[in-house]
Amino acid sequence: MSDDALSNLLHEDRRFPPPADLAANANVTAETYAAADADFEGFWAEQAKRLSWGTEPTKTLDWSNAPFATWYEDGTLNAAYNCLDRHVEAGNGDKVAFHFVGEPGDTRDITYAELTKEVCQAANALTDLGVEAGDRVAIYLPMIPEAVVAMLACARIGAPHTVVFGGFSADALATRIKDCGVEVVITADGGYRRGSAAALKPAVDEALTECPDVNHVLVIKRTEQETAMTEGRDVWWHDAVGNASPEHTPQNFPAEQPLYIMYTSGSTGQPKGILHTTAGYLVGCAYTHWAAFDLKDDDVFWTAADIGWVTGHSYLVYGPLANGATSVMYEGTPDTPHKGRWWEIIEKYKVTILYCAPTAIRTFMKWGADIPAKFDLSSLRVLGSVGEPINPEAYVWYRTNIGGDKVPVVDTWWQTETGMHMISPMPGVTEGKPGAAMKAVPGVVVDVVNDEGKPVGNGHGGYLVVTKPWPAMLRTIWGDDQRFKDTYWSRFEGVYFAGDGAKKDEDGDIWVLGRVDDVMNVSGHRMSTTEIESALVSHERVAEAAVVGATDETTGQAIVAFVILRAGEGETADDAETIVQTLRNHVAKEISPIAKPRQIMVVEELPKTRSGKIMRRLLRDIAENRELGDVTTLQDSSVMNLIKDNLESSKED
Ligand code: PRX
Repeated sequence: MSDDALSNLLHEDRRFPPPADLAANANVTAETYAAADADFEGFWAEQAKRLSWGTEPTKTLDWSNAPFATWYEDGTLNAAYNCLDRHVEAGNGDKVAFHFVGEPGDTRDITYAELTKEVCQAANALTDLGVEAGDRVAIYLPMIPEAVVAMLACARIGAPHTVVFGGFSADALATRIKDCGVEVVITADGGYRRGSAAALKPAVDEALTECPDVNHVLVIKRTEQETAMTEGRDVWWHDAVGNASPEHTPQNFPAEQPLYIMYTSGSTGQPKGILHTTAGYLVGCAYTHWAAFDLKDDDVFWTAADIGWVTGHSYLVYGPLANGATSVMYEGTPDTPHKGRWWEIIEKYKVTILYCAPTAIRTFMKWGADIPAKFDLSSLRVLGSVGEPINPEAYVWYRTNIGGDKVPVVDTWWQTETGMHMISPMPGVTEGKPGAAMKAVPGVVVDVVNDEGKPVGNGHGGYLVVTKPWPAMLRTIWGDDQRFKDTYWSRFEGVYFAGDGAKKDEDGDIWVLGRVDDVMNVSGHRMSTTEIESALVSHERVAEAAVVGATDETTGQAIVAFVILRAGEGETADDAETIVQTLRNHVAKEISPIAKPRQIMVVEELPKTRSGKIMRRLLRDIAENRELGDVTTLQDSSVMNLIKDNLESSKED
């Protein structure tokens, strides 16, 4: 981030104070910050009271074996009981947990009592399939209620789940299944996407050719499409779960029982299995969901994110359910069958809190404000943003056109690793600034440091770090403690390095600027440049590849690849074009359609330093059509012209 860009940001002088009625009844007040500052552990011991425990913890944090933390270590609890049964026992069995909206227009309201019953049945069915506490279960599903049921059924029996985004390929699924030793997979025949039924089960079948340890696949019927079942291995959900007993006594597990593993991209080709455990994670999600969204009993909350990402885990499943909230769950895309679909849903269910990614907001901006203007959005009272930096224009558009020029926007910064919000405005306290994530949430301590790890002053930029442990923190990378230490805890002594760049403005408020490593953020999805490079070079026609994230108006960043073909390939223009298509499809197959490069440029050489390192910054400049920097350290500077020429002619519409 250049100083110019910083000063542009700092020229943002619009301020939005909290609405008076929200401030008057706010969950979080200035005192909350004071309480957390005065007694860090006491604050988090207090937050633990949000949960129902089998055995109440007497300890809060143990950091003596840093960076391996334990939280509430001697407590015991059941995560599913906390998300379900206790609300039913408290008399809220008839409260709606989810208003489910399928893409084709089918809807289903699921109460806490109904969800509890289904989870008990699914827990019994999993036990019958031989799943025991500690066993890993993979969940590969569209956005349907059974995805929540499956997660909570695993949690109920102490079996960590690993949810793999339904848009990932068979290869990506296989990699994850093998990495954490999954024995049971839960999937569906298919799901609805953009108006048609897309099959899912064939990808599982393909993945399992490489995964001999998987002995059962539970298959949910969603689309009713023809689905091949392997005898002895595959079981229909409606048979196994439908016929199971709805009685299930939840067992209390230790606070540090693994709850789930969520894979995310790092700066190498191998995805990292981020491990979250039970009590600290649930405390962190319940507290932040209550705090950042100012959650009240009668709110209708909507996280418009897929369950396959951490946002879906923390703020569609665990946070809202631990808080006994009512949520919307939507299966499909925002433009099916029309571009007002989200606003129609908000109007229908009187949604009060909407939580989504800036990419969605920028897309809606492009479609035009007249679309949401046709719907009654007056129920909204808090708007959230997550996953990528929100540019001030998008923030103000969101506030104005969706929030009727009065609803506060909370820009929440966090990560798969942090499990919960870390930096965010508090809607009843913070005077919002468009584009700024503002301050750490009460109970979280962050800083921005320079290369030497020294805090920067106001008006300066550096690396974002978290200086104290927090309850929902990742405990390790599954099976790789060393990588956990190296990635997060060795860049700066004793503090968590998030991999993001940030600035403190003149008031000391934080602006998160994006990744400083080889990780891209495309539409709020995290992707590693190396992972896509490996996918490209795994194709027989590719000799070498370099991938960069280029700034993109809608998706934040877009993937641009530079490839060198093996000799004899791509010699004619026609051939080069075919190869580009082939390679884009190859990446989609290896990883996911979301990893498809926006552009692939066939080049003859890649710019390298004398020591042979690819000059990514330069490639990024080219991909963004910026003025080139100093190229004198290039082995051969003529390559740059070549690359540039190629870029002009190979841009995709
Ligand atoms: O670069 C930051 C960006 O998303 C990364 C985390 O990605 P992931 O683990 O997939 O989690 C996304 C959902 C929490 C961060 O390292 N990021 C996330 N939220 C913001 C953000 N960047 C700027 N502002 C945010 N509010």
